[in-house]
Amino acid sequence: MRLCAPTLLFILLPLFTVDGYYGQGYWSCYYTGDLNSTEFTFSWYFNKVEYLRYNSTTDRYTGFTTYGTAEAAELNKDSSNSLYFYVDQLCKRSRDEYFTYVLMTVKPEVTVRSLVVSEPRSLSAMLLCSAYDYHPKGIKVLWLRDGEVVTEGVSSTEELSDGDWYYQTHSYLQYTPRPGENISCVVQHVSLTRPLIITWERHLPEDQRNKLIIGIFLMVLGIVLAVVGFLYYMLRSKEQTSRPVTLGK
Ligand SMILES: *[C@@H]1O[C@H](CO)[C@@H](O)[C@H](O)[C@H]1NC(C)=O
Ligand SMILES: *[C@@H]1O[C@H](CO)[C@@H](O)[C@H](O)[C@H]1NC(C)=O
Ligand SMILES: *[C@@H]1O[C@H](CO)[C@@H](O)[C@H](O)[C@H]1NC(C)=O
Repeated sequence: MRLCAPTLLFILLPLFTVDGYYGQGYWSCYYTGDLNSTEFTFSWYFNKVEYLRYNSTTDRYTGFTTYGTAEAAELNKDSSNSLYFYVDQLCKRSRDEYFTYVLMTVKPEVTVRSLVVSEPRSLSAMLLCSAYDYHPKGIKVLWLRDGEVVTEGVSSTEELSDGDWYYQTHSYLQYTPRPGENISCVVQHVSLTRPLIITWERHLPEDQRNKLIIGIFLMVLGIVLAVVGFLYYMLRSKEQTSRPVTLGK
């Protein structure tokens, strides 16, 4: 498991602000690689100087300035000042969340679509392969043209953070289309047991296809109605023209 003791450090809250001075408190959870031990620490800072720290491993406060040392000695006298419960309440609880949502791998959603090339006379076409909502960072996107890896005309964005543990990346392929060729986007990621291959298919985009289907349906309906109307008209006119004949008989 590639889990080498990640230290998760957070800014909890600025404790107070007075006229250009500031105090801060930092808590951190330190997880060992085998998760057998978890260490919670809380550090108090004033103007960037850490003066007091609680450490769950020793279950004691340590002072780093004259004031901090006096404060630590005072706090260590009474076990009710212990912050040890945060090991369970904060670190272990969030560890389960990190395992579920952070360390877990999430498969990318991959789409391939064509882009309009700006120069109208240009013979080249452009495809965009996008991988969305995967975790963790570290993906490989490449293009295959008739089974060969394409090296020319390929450009990619960096892996962009969505700001919610997930990432996305985009790879562009500029190429000159050849009839009957097979172009695929290949994605490799730790969440996938084998590379994901999406073959580009030159069908119409979804909304155009839907419009086309509706158009064809309306056209067929129109033809059917026209034929029915025409037959009805023919029958009626036949009846009307034949009536005097039947009457005459
Ligand atoms: C972790 O703890 C378990 C049970 O307490 C023990 O069997 C195991 O050897 C420990 N692992 C390490 C790497 O210390
Ligand atoms: C907490 O105390 C343990 C034991 O003394 C020490 O190994 C560890 O480095 C301390 N952690 C911090 C953040 O000071
Ligand atoms: C196109 O190439 C991909 C990747 O090599 C392959 O998986 C796919 O079957 C091919 N499709 C056709 C229609 O040849």
